[in-house]
Amino acid sequence: MEGNLEIIKVENISYTYRSKYQTTQAIKNIACTFETGVMYSIIGKSGSGKSTFLSLLAGMDLPSSGRILIENSDMAKIDRDKYRMHQVSIVYQAFHLFPLLTVTENVMFPMELQKKNRKLARQKAEALLLSVGLSEKAFQKYPGMLSGGEQQRCAIARAMASEGQILLADEPTGNLDTENEKIIVALMKRLAHEEKKAVIIVTHNEKVACKSDVILKMQDGRLLEVEP
Ligand SMILES: Nc1ncnc2c1ncn2[C@@H]1O[C@H](COP(=O)(O)OP(=O)(O)OP(=O)(O)O)[C@@H](O)[C@H]1O
Ligand SMILES: [Mg+2]
Repeated sequence: MEGNLEIIKVENISYTYRSKYQTTQAIKNIACTFETGVMYSIIGKSGSGKSTFLSLLAGMDLPSSGRILIENSDMAKIDRDKYRMHQVSIVYQAFHLFPLLTVTENVMFPMELQKKNRKLARQKAEALLLSVGLSEKAFQKYPGMLSGGEQQRCAIARAMASEGQILLADEPTGNLDTENEKIIVALMKRLAHEEKKAVIIVTHNEKVACKSDVILKMQDGRLLEVEP
């Protein structure tokens, strides 16, 4: 797509989980590219490798073979801690909020890592929380005091607080009702189209997938087709 930057290039990657008793080849020879300014959905059955693929894009581990290039640099050769801190933000399938930080402090966290002024970080965090549909009442609560859907929205606000150009989200609407699902999908689309991020979400929800610009389908560790 014109004017967009090819920010991630996936070159024939495979990934194998190894334990004492068995090995599982979770990713099999995937090749594709991701651009900024585009919202992607990754769909596929449970166990097809979606979360594994996302965690490789997030730099949590390196592929067993093949390469992932981030702005033309091999992920294996860059400082992956820095990459995770500055370039990519992630909404995990199981939220991973910090239990000892309040809702607002959770959202401020990536901005503090990026050394943003604390007062500005708080203001931005509160605006983001309102944008995902959380009310002021939630701001000073701890994650354990929120419902599943509220925690999910807090995790989304935290990922949106990062200035990184890549946003990854594993089932970001899994715990939301239809109304909140619509709000979140619209926000993610705006992040892609207006803030020019590469937004990559894993979803089981067809309605959510249909709203994205590109659908990637996984089956048994492989990428089946790319639909425009
Ligand atoms: N830590 C692990 N150790 C060993 N095998 C794993 C591990 N995590 C995942 N797997 C295996 O890798 C394959 C892909 O798993 P993955 O979690 O990527 O699937 P998924 O598409 O995200 O599924 P779901 O829709 O249920 O979240 C599965 O066969 C799974 O059992
Ligand atoms: Mg998964």
